[in-house]
Amino acid sequence: MASFMHLYSFLAILLFVLHPLQAATTNHHHHHHHHHHHHHDGLKSLHFSLFQHETINKTGYIIVNGVAGPPVSQTTTPFGTLFAFQDPLTLKPDYTSKVVGTAQGTSITSGLDGLQSISIAKITLNVKKHKGSISVVGVTHNTKPSNHPVVGGTGDFLFVQGYVTSSPVNLVGLTVTYKIEFHLYWPPYAHPKP
Ligand SMILES: *[C@@H]1O[C@H](CO)[C@@H](O)[C@H](O)[C@H]1NC(C)=O
Repeated sequence: MASFMHLYSFLAILLFVLHPLQAATTNHHHHHHHHHHHHHDGLKSLHFSLFQHETINKTGYIIVNGVAGPPVSQTTTPFGTLFAFQDPLTLKPDYTSKVVGTAQGTSITSGLDGLQSISIAKITLNVKKHKGSISVVGVTHNTKPSNHPVVGGTGDFLFVQGYVTSSPVNLVGLTVTYKIEFHLYWPPYAHPKP
């Protein structure tokens, strides 16, 4: 015990003597390290909007009729309706504007109100020097904005996370238009292209 106390005193004095130099060095290092860390850990993200155009019996079809709830209308489909689509995505709200992607998927009317459906889609993109696809899943509301989590991606979007917000823009006529806002984030292990 006594020798332990002695050793402790010795170390305390030694540390006290070394402390000023160490403190200065550590501070310098810490400052430098922190700055570097901040740059290195900046997550890559991409935010943009496209417009999805769906034309009944041309880019989107009812495959199986639903069984209950409201009939087929501009905004409703009976519960259980199975729908499949392959819709173009354009840069601007006008469907004749430049096509930069495709959304292909399926949705099943999952709300008894006929307004909501569970949707699964693969969205192929060629935007902002990024080529590949993202996959999304979630419930779409036919008349209100809905968020769909991104479950993954391919190509330049490999490992991408985030969400897309789908909002109706025009629900009148044979072609309906939705605005799709993309909020994409690359995790550190995705090694994005600069
Ligand atoms: C789409 O096709 C189905 C089946 O042929 C038909 O019953 C329906 O009226 C068509 N809808 C429109 C809007 O043309």
